[in-house]
Amino acid sequence: MDHFTITNGVMHAEDVPLPRIADEVGTPVYVYSRATLERHARVFREALDDVPEKLIAFAVKANPNLAVLKVLQRQGYGADVVSVGEMRRALAAGIAPENVVFSGVGKTRTELAAGLEAGIGQFNIESEEEGLELAEVAREMGMEARCTLRINPDVDAGTHDKISTGKADNKFGVPITEAGQIFGKLANEKGVKLRGVAVHIGSQLADLAPLENAFAKIDELIRSLRGAGHTITHVDLGGGLGVPYKQGEELPSPAEYGAMVARMTKDWSVKLIFEPGRVIAGNAGVLLTRVVRVKRGIKDPFVIVDAAMNDLARPALYGAYHDFTAVQPKGTDMTANIVGPICETGDTFAMGRLCDKLETGDLAVFRTAGAYGATMASSYNSRGFVAEVLVDGDKFAVVADRIDASAIMDAERVPEWLD
Ligand code: LLP
Repeated sequence: MDHFTITNGVMHAEDVPLPRIADEVGTPVYVYSRATLERHARVFREALDDVPEKLIAFAVKANPNLAVLKVLQRQGYGADVVSVGEMRRALAAGIAPENVVFSGVGKTRTELAAGLEAGIGQFNIESEEEGLELAEVAREMGMEARCTLRINPDVDAGTHDKISTGKADNKFGVPITEAGQIFGKLANEKGVKLRGVAVHIGSQLADLAPLENAFAKIDELIRSLRGAGHTITHVDLGGGLGVPYKQGEELPSPAEYGAMVARMTKDWSVKLIFEPGRVIAGNAGVLLTRVVRVKRGIKDPFVIVDAAMNDLARPALYGAYHDFTAVQPKGTDMTANIVGPICETGDTFAMGRLCDKLETGDLAVFRTAGAYGATMASSYNSRGFVAEVLVDGDKFAVVADRIDASAIMDAERVPEWLD
């Protein structure tokens, strides 16, 4: 459920009519709803009520906007980060360092040291090599890094190939077949305190079965590690729960996910860490755009909007579907190709889409754009970076300025030997 609804013929974010935001901030612009973020955070937390000890660490990559992180920090959320940049954002939003988890397959030495320096709660080590390097860095600093070892369980998550992470040939984690041996080696290493394991098999999961399968493998691994004399106190179950992108699409609910987790982990006696991203932020945001013009096509017309693949990359990158609706529906519809202004055919949001009738100057939204939206933007075609707005009841604030193409150009230089 979200708070983007049509009231008196006009789409509102909570109590703010979207045309007001378009007038004051311009388009394209990402619009987030605080009430929706809070609702999703609460629903996910309540779904895990039966898990006695836990940390819910929002996957910052899904939406790193500082105001969004602040909303989640106020809900008691920690942060799952994958770079120093994300770590700094989480800390700047007031998230306590001990509630920060550092994931990622290519943490640099500088990043490992920065994480230690900041006193973050947990590193999820993705390889033996990384574990040894972290141990060395920690020893040099006279510190001890609290860690889990990320396991690649060799499970097909059944999602898009580019966002699957738990198959044996994916780059993430250590093969489950070698986990015991690598765990044994790193557990003896001074500088790291290896206290458990982590797993994350992919994103936008539409079925709980692969997750359950992965957790069953982790269950077996925990028993075997304990059998070998290791102390296991922390298990990170990652994120991945999918969200509906189409009206009426049925996905496993947080409650169903929570019940499965509680059932699979009831004998573990560990603190569980969760890293949800999309399920919290996805449906809490829309990308508001204006129709530049409607161009006749051989078959369907092209609705050319002022948002493009540089602002919302998911359709071009993954063939992803985003609902596209008018802000002021006229009560009639059309079949159209929805495209942006960028000079490549990949800048297509949808072909042959049945949508609200739209004309030049009309406003429309791409829904479910709160996760992996603004954060994946680029400045391709020298288009600058899109602005972001957070709505709260009847007020809103610009929470990220639009960065003009000229500001990006200002950071470039022609060397004098070229002049
Ligand atoms: N934890 C780890 C270690 C991850 O790699 C990810 C996502 C998450 C948690 C959060 O997953 P979520 O709950 O959001 O599914 N750009 C892609 C999604 C990439 C996901 C990468 N990892 C997209 O737009 O669909």
